[in-house]
Amino acid sequence: MDNFTYHNPVKLIFGKGQIAQVGRDIPKGARVLFAFGGGSIKANGIHAQVVDALGQAGLTFVEFSGIEPNPRYETLMKAVELARAEKLDFILAVGGGSVVDGCKFIAAAIPFEGDCWDIVAKRARLKSAVPLGVVLTLPATGSEMNAFSVVSREETGEKLGFGSPAVMPRFSVLDPESTYSLPPRQLGNGIVDAFVHVLEQYLTQPADAPLQDRLAEAVLATLVEIAPKVMATPPDYQARANLMWCATMALNGLIGQGVPQDWSTHMIGHELTALYGIDHARSLAAVWPGVVAVRREAKRAKLLQFAARVWGLTEGSEDQRIDQAVAKTRAFFESVGVPAGTIAAGIPAEAAQLVSARLSERGGLPLGEDGAIGAAEVRAILEAAA
Ligand code: NZQ
Ligand code: ZN
Repeated sequence: MDNFTYHNPVKLIFGKGQIAQVGRDIPKGARVLFAFGGGSIKANGIHAQVVDALGQAGLTFVEFSGIEPNPRYETLMKAVELARAEKLDFILAVGGGSVVDGCKFIAAAIPFEGDCWDIVAKRARLKSAVPLGVVLTLPATGSEMNAFSVVSREETGEKLGFGSPAVMPRFSVLDPESTYSLPPRQLGNGIVDAFVHVLEQYLTQPADAPLQDRLAEAVLATLVEIAPKVMATPPDYQARANLMWCATMALNGLIGQGVPQDWSTHMIGHELTALYGIDHARSLAAVWPGVVAVRREAKRAKLLQFAARVWGLTEGSEDQRIDQAVAKTRAFFESVGVPAGTIAAGIPAEAAQLVSARLSERGGLPLGEDGAIGAAEVRAILEAAA
């Protein structure tokens, strides 16, 4: 196991009815930027719950709506201007990963001196950030309990991430009932995103870290077990609660401490989203089969462990077990409505060359837990991901 320092200060407030308490964790006298997305929170009543809670706590707030999926720098900068003009000093993000990520950028940008795009493009060091709280409405990204944010820039067609402890939420409210209004597409996306977050931290090489392995396997097996209940209508509270907790645990840093991490599926997937507008989780299910095809030998030991412990595959040759584990994983993605492989996802063949060139021009290579994925491997991954 490698050395590590793990510090996660996010206060999680979990369960039914907890949104009513949201004012309690915002400092008295704060001037709040209440930021959200395209309006789902108005349709499902969460907007009204938040307005009530802020009102009861006697907090002044200004609303900013319209943070889009794959939040855009251009939109976020409008919120930064609003917050600076109104002297807002606390941000409440209410929505899915895009709203939370967008608000992390806003929090960093408000006090930032200089070109705010440098926060993302140059990973500029942050001296400070405006404090942020979250009401999560879509379990998927883990953004509610981590330091990362992914921002897209329309002008340049880029989708890039940054991370800083300064933008970790002060608190996140997770009410499973807030997921009841999610369409099946977003539920399926959430399950797949969480599943692939775990795979990026688990399907690497053995690191003598049996606890991390079993924590990862617990999240994977739980997602497989609850997925049919999560997708069922009417919504099942316990299934939604378990999905929320799994998605948070998948990317709050815990399972990845002291072990190698991959993230190539994500980095290649972000390029597909930037090029073709494909949903984040769908980009992952499109790319992942290619990563395991090209990296099969490097990942052999963990693929066999994954086959045995997550899918119960213990019979047959090593190669048969790995093939079956990959087939079962693809079928799992498809069982929640997310196409696996590039063809089913509608990604054109030209993507292999384009994505490889974009990543190499930007200096985004090599990828993979051992840095073995260069431009040729990115091409091979997308070619093999069919
Ligand atoms: O905009 P609104 O109206 O809120 O609608 C959203 C959006 O259209 C809707 N939605 C959210 N909650 C809902 C709801 N609809 C009905 N009922 C609800 N309760 O769902 C749509 C998608 O929302 P979005 O926030 O984009 O989805 P998600 O949570 O999957 O976030 C994806 C973004 O997070 C980034 C992705 O790259 C992408 O930009 N990621 C962030 C990570 C992080 N910060 O650690 C890691 C991830 O790997 C990922 O990269
Ligand atoms: Zn993801």
